Amino acid sequence: MSEISLSYFEYTQAMAALGWQIELGADEAICDVPINRYDSDGGPSLKALKFGKDSNIAPAKAIPDILPKTQSAPDVSALMASKAKTLGELKNAMGVFDLCALKEGARNLVFADGIPDAPVMVIGEAPGRDEDIQGKPFVGPAGQLLDKMFASIGMSRLGDENTPLYITNVIPWRPPQNRDPNIEEITMMLPFLQKHIELVAPKLLVLMGNTACKAVLGATGITRMRGNWAEAFGVPVMPMFHPAALLRDPLKKREAWLDLQDIRKRLQANDD
Ligand code: URA
Repeated sequence: MSEISLSYFEYTQAMAALGWQIELGADEAICDVPINRYDSDGGPSLKALKFGKDSNIAPAKAIPDILPKTQSAPDVSALMASKAKTLGELKNAMGVFDLCALKEGARNLVFADGIPDAPVMVIGEAPGRDEDIQGKPFVGPAGQLLDKMFASIGMSRLGDENTPLYITNVIPWRPPQNRDPNIEEITMMLPFLQKHIELVAPKLLVLMGNTACKAVLGATGITRMRGNWAEAFGVPVMPMFHPAALLRDPLKKREAWLDLQDIRKRLQANDD
């Protein structure tokens, strides 16, 4: 490999350009040749399979033919969600739902983590980079804080001696550059979330941040809403600051601690 020598000026320019790209969301190195992440054995690419372009392979059908072609995306998701009788069937239905463009840019469907019969179900926004890679919700820095927060009130997703926790997101695919999911994306994924809540049947729901509040309660304004119990789908709901917001502004942790105490008390009252 030939050695490249840079002047200090060239070096700082290159570093600034790199910083700018990271800022734009290009936060991973790529190779000289594309990697087909869907097909590690070098067979036909997913695009070829899907669109049959330059290929005699028939396009794969994700949305079954029985659905009327005129249905809107939320109608399709509602119909698909209504057929799911188990969490496994719901995950499969979401996996073949092809009308949300976010799926195209994501590595993995991030469905849920934790214990399905937990009394508390936490709903976040959407996967970030770490979640997209691992296919599990809340595994990056915000997730580590979330685990510590719930551990402080004796709850965990691990199936250990703590009270069990179940964790999911409004959106199962990572949005580009971690942007907020838009209202169309939230609306088309909502029937899946509603079915998810129905199948888990938690005693309490915890909404992390504005996107979860928008989806479940149809309202935003987390600073005003946090700490106030609401109800959705027949379940008591506690809106809280998103752990990512607590990482950005640690002064908010005081309020988050009060909300966690309230969740613990409400759960205890439920058990008495
Ligand atoms: N933020 C979320 O809202 N969900 C995750 O899974 C990770 C970060």
